[in-house]
Amino acid sequence: MKTKITELFGIQHPIIQGGMHHVGYAELAAAVSNAGGLGIITALTQPSPEALAEEIRRCREMTDKPFGVNVTFLPSVNTPDYPGYIKAIIDGGVKVVETAGNNPQQVLPALQEAGVKVIHKCTSVRHALKAESIGCDAASVDGFECGGHPGEDDVPNFILLPRAAEELTIPFVASGGMANGRSLTAALAMGAEGMNMGTRFIATKEAPVHDNVKQAIVAASELDTRLVMRPLRNTERVLTNDAVERLLEKEKRLGADLKFEDIIDEVAGVYPRIMKEGEMEAGAWSCGMVAGLIHDIPTVKELIDRTMAESEDLIRQRLAGMLSD
Ligand SMILES: Cc1cc2nc3c(=O)[nH]c(=O)nc-3n(C[C@H](O)[C@H](O)[C@H](O)COP(=O)(O)O)c2cc1C
Repeated sequence: MKTKITELFGIQHPIIQGGMHHVGYAELAAAVSNAGGLGIITALTQPSPEALAEEIRRCREMTDKPFGVNVTFLPSVNTPDYPGYIKAIIDGGVKVVETAGNNPQQVLPALQEAGVKVIHKCTSVRHALKAESIGCDAASVDGFECGGHPGEDDVPNFILLPRAAEELTIPFVASGGMANGRSLTAALAMGAEGMNMGTRFIATKEAPVHDNVKQAIVAASELDTRLVMRPLRNTERVLTNDAVERLLEKEKRLGADLKFEDIIDEVAGVYPRIMKEGEMEAGAWSCGMVAGLIHDIPTVKELIDRTMAESEDLIRQRLAGMLSD
């Protein structure tokens, strides 16, 4: 399948693995790239620019295909060394960066000068248009169903993607709720040039996370995610557990008085405990509604191959078949 996204990034299939905190290590990124998609290392999971440089080196040892790095701008107490991370990306010869969380203007000139293509992840058409206007090469349009931070507009992909298609000139991929060949085919029909998956890639053999996390995703239904931190305008879609229910109870009780410090136990520093140690009740961790469509733990290659086969079959047989006579 050839789309503007496969052409832009020099990849075989229009499938991207979104940056994921404490999941997007070299092992997963390399597996996705080796299977013909675009794997992405998550910069801020690495404690320093030097550690990111080493992670990029490790990834290059595992694949000779293109892979990218995610740079997330989110509210944080200590601002990360963004210039240092960007330098590690450029020096490491990485040619694709996925930015997210905030306007990437501050890092664009350096990346563009180094010939790095930038795909900005946005949760609204206005943010995608802004990304286009400042010179981003592509957008990843993240609907309300997505795992992680869906923004505050709550527009699901059935509306958001065709709206993006109405307005954008740069190519975009559909993100949020994508899991299989049906998702890809629908995304293409709605104007996207490919799809980005987060949660689906966690439940794969190569994802370097504790087996408890993969099993929790397989066990979850589409009803099992919750939105937390909405009162702080930092909404995150997470899988429910006791810690999340406790957090929501605090949000309800404190109302407009809620401060980050009130929920620190449920959100701060929980990712390594969950992803590495498999302590599933340690706190809130991002997970999409798409968990309801995830029923197994295949290898990344099995997942991508069957997704492409299913999508091609849907287009050739089901859709084309509906047109005959
Ligand atoms: C566990 C987890 C961690 C994530 N961490 C990040 C992150 O650090 N930066 C980012 O831009 N997106 C992050 N995301 C969002 C994904 O890159 C992707 O946009 C999202 O998962 C798409 O929705 P889906 O889960 O329905 O596929 C994360 C998602 C998950 C599930």
